[in-house]
Amino acid sequence: AAQVRPQVVRSPEALRSALSGRGRVGLVPTMGYLHDGHATLMRRAREVCDVLVVSIFVNPLQFGPSEDLAAYPRDLQRDLGVVGEAGVDVVFMPDVETMYPPAFDTRVVVSGVSEGLDGASRPGHFVGVATVVLKLLNLVRPDVAFFGEKDWQQLAVLRQMVRDLNVPVEVVGLPTVRAPSGLALSSRNSYLTPEQQARAAVLSRALTAVQEAYAGGERDAAGLRQAGLDVLSADPEVTLDYLSVVGRDMQEREVVDNDSMTRVLVAARMFGVRLIDNMPLVSA
Ligand code: PAJ
Repeated sequence: AAQVRPQVVRSPEALRSALSGRGRVGLVPTMGYLHDGHATLMRRAREVCDVLVVSIFVNPLQFGPSEDLAAYPRDLQRDLGVVGEAGVDVVFMPDVETMYPPAFDTRVVVSGVSEGLDGASRPGHFVGVATVVLKLLNLVRPDVAFFGEKDWQQLAVLRQMVRDLNVPVEVVGLPTVRAPSGLALSSRNSYLTPEQQARAAVLSRALTAVQEAYAGGERDAAGLRQAGLDVLSADPEVTLDYLSVVGRDMQEREVVDNDSMTRVLVAARMFGVRLIDNMPLVSA
C-alpha cells in the first residue's frame, strides 16, 4: 500500500483549515493503540470518502475513577504507521485541555439504551462517550462517521444521540474484526500475554455456542444463555459481568423473535482485564 504521510493537527483551528472544501469527509474516532479492527474501519472509510480524518484521543470523561485511564496503552509512532498505511489524510489529536478546558461544564446524557449492560457496570461511561463523540462530530463536521460493532451498545447510544439531536452525520457500523482464535481485537488485549489472549477466546466461543443454540431452534433466552454459560463456566478464570440476549432497544429478551437486531452480549473480567464481545442471532 502506498504510504502517505497524514497531516497531524492538534488544534480546532488547524483542523478547520486542513478540512476546508475538500469533499465528502469521513471520521473514525479512536482512542489510539490502533489494531486491525481500527484499520478495517479506516480502509472502509477510505473507500467512500474524499477526506478521511482519524481522531486519537484517550477520553478521560469515559473512564471511571477506578478504571484504566492512566494505564491505557499508547504508542503514537506505531499509530502513525497504521494511519499512514490506511491512507488517512488528517489525524486529529487534541490535548485533554483542548477538549476539556477548565470551564467545561456540559454533558450529553442518552437515556434508555445506555442504561443497562455496560451502562450499569460503568456508571458515567456512556455520558463520557456521547459527550466526546458529539464534540468530535462538531469539530470535524464529517458527512459520515464509522464505528465498530465490537462496541454494540456504544453504537446504539451514538445512533440514538445522532437521531435525537439531529446531528447531520451518517453513522456507519462495521463488523467486529477477530483474531484467528475468535478473540475480538481490542486495545485492551495488550494487557494480556499471548497465552492469556488464547484463554480469552472462551468469550467468543461462548457467544458462538449461543448462536448455535439459536440456529438449533432455541428461542427461550434462558436456554440460549445457558448454552453460553456452559462454555464460560468451564474456565475458572472468567468472572462474568453479564451474558445477555438483547433487542435493538438494549433490553433483555425473554423470548427471541426473528428480529435481526437481536444480539448476545458478554462482559467478563479475565486476568484482571475487563473484556466485552457480542454476536448477532440469525436463523440459518
Ligand atoms: P476505541 O476502543 O479506540 O475504538 C474505536 C472504534 O474502533 C470504535 O468504533 C470501536 O467499536 C472500533 N473497534 C474496536 N475494536 C474493534 C474490532 N475488533 N472490530 C471492529 N471495530 C472495532 O470506542 C472507542 O475507542 C471510544 O469509546 C470512542 C468512540 C473513540 C470515544 O472515545
